[in-house]
Amino acid sequence: MSVRIAPSLLSADFARLAEALAMAEEGGADMVHVDVMDGHFVPNLTIGPPVVAALRRATRLPLDVHLMIERPEASLTQYLEAGANWISVHVEATRHLQRCLDRIREGGARAGAVINPATPAEALDASWPDLDYAVVMSVNPGWGGQAFIPSSLEKIRRVQLRAREAGVRVPIEVDGGVAAGNAAAVVGAGAEILVAGSAIYGDADPRAAIARLKAAASEGVRV
Ligand code: DX5
Ligand code: ZN
Repeated sequence: MSVRIAPSLLSADFARLAEALAMAEEGGADMVHVDVMDGHFVPNLTIGPPVVAALRRATRLPLDVHLMIERPEASLTQYLEAGANWISVHVEATRHLQRCLDRIREGGARAGAVINPATPAEALDASWPDLDYAVVMSVNPGWGGQAFIPSSLEKIRRVQLRAREAGVRVPIEVDGGVAAGNAAAVVGAGAEILVAGSAIYGDADPRAAIARLKAAASEGVRV
C-alpha cells in the first residue's frame, strides 16, 4: 500500500494557483485537493466550477474536489463538466447521498462521501457499494490551518472496520490538520490518502514539505 498525498490549494496563494500546481507536481504529489465552500454548509466561501476548469487545464494531476456545499446534487454536473476527477460530498449536506454518488460515477469521476467530526462512521454504512473513497474530516471544515482532532484516529479505524465488514476495499482519505508529525499515526489508523494544506503551502519550501510528508507517512504503513 502506498500513501497518496493531496496538497490542498486552500492554503496556497489564490493569485498564484498555477505556481501552486507546479510545486505539487514537482514535489511528487499524487493529486490536488480543491476545497469548494458555499458560505452556507460552511461559513467560508471559496471557488466554483470556472476555477476548477482552469485548474484542470493547468495540471496533469488528478483534481480531488471536496464539495463543502449544501445540496451538492444541484451542482454536480457543473463540477463534472469542469473536469473534476474525484468528487466528494458531505453526508450532512444532502438527503440524496446515493443519487449524488451515482451521478458522480456516471459522470466518469470517482465518488467520495465525507463525514464531519461529529458524524459517526456508521453514517457510511448504506453507501459502501457506491463509494470509491471515504473522507474522514479531522477538523471541522471551513478553514485551513486548524489543529487535528485526536479522536479522528479512532474514527479512521472505525471507518476502515465498517468497510471491511461490508466486504469492500475503499481507500480512506483524511482531511484537516495533517502534518509530518502525525502522518504516521494517521496512516497507521488506516488512511491511504492524506490531504495537507498549511503543512505544504504554509512551508517555505512546499516541494520539500511534500517529500517530508511522504516519508513520514511511509513510517505508518503496516506491512
Ligand atoms: C478544511 C478543508 C481542508 C483544508 C486542510 O475545511 O477541507 O482541505 O484545506 O487544511 P490543513 O491541512 O491546513 O488543515
Ligand atoms: Zn478539504
